[in-house]
Amino acid sequence: MSTETMTNIPVHVSLIMDGNGRWAKERGKERVYGHFEGVGSVRACVEASVEYGVKYLSLYAFSEENWNRPQEEVDTLMGLMVKAMADEMDSLDKNGVRFLVLGNRARLADELNATIDSCMERTKDNKTLTLIIFLSYSGKWDILQAARKMAEEMAASPERRQEIEEMGVDGFDRYLVTAGVPDPDLIVRTSGESRLSNYLLWQGAYSELLFVDTLWPDFRKEEFRKALESYAKRDRRYGKVK
Ligand code: IPE
Ligand code: IPE
Ligand code: MG
Repeated sequence: MSTETMTNIPVHVSLIMDGNGRWAKERGKERVYGHFEGVGSVRACVEASVEYGVKYLSLYAFSEENWNRPQEEVDTLMGLMVKAMADEMDSLDKNGVRFLVLGNRARLADELNATIDSCMERTKDNKTLTLIIFLSYSGKWDILQAARKMAEEMAASPERRQEIEEMGVDGFDRYLVTAGVPDPDLIVRTSGESRLSNYLLWQGAYSELLFVDTLWPDFRKEEFRKALESYAKRDRRYGKVK
């Protein structure tokens, strides 16, 4: 199916990039080799998103729980983030990609935060695609930090307290780190694991889920296209009768 004939393109596609370690192990290499190779899949999925007209592509790159990995692997992953951002930013900017990093940024090193800030500032007015990297992210952490912000506002102003008490679930969205970003239409996890691993617990309430066996370094344009085809066949009912 070509880009012209594809119908029902999701606005927001989210990818849980899993299986780098196993990909490397299958080749008798160190786990980090899989992480390096995975950058090529990120590039392929960004290009495919632009080609198919997906407006938001988000990637689960590092969870809050991933801090518990061996220090050497954490350091390599963080170094890889800085390098990938530096290497890719010219091309992303040229292609109209707005770059966002969401997560618990207080835990990131100063150098990484400075790189993220400059990439976000540079691309902030781009309109073709919003690329979101979830870094040091967990869904439970996101909900907790949102609840804390809300509680602070309630304590600070009686008027705001009244408004918050009357607001519906949509009003809570603006406290989450994803404020302003539409909920993912499709969440794909690679590597054969069928779980969310603490990802977008609130925002994914009505996302279509797709679990594929492909390991992340092998998830390229063809796999992305297949995921869009699978999505196109879904019937989203949101609890209603059709
Ligand atoms: C995904 O690959 C990358 C991150 C979670 C940072 P893994 O490193 O989890 O690879 P596997 O699942 O061990 O194969
Ligand atoms: C989930 O992968 C997190 C990311 C892809 C960033 P993990 O490999 O950390 O998840 P578990 O431990 O298998 O659930
Ligand atoms: Mg994994």
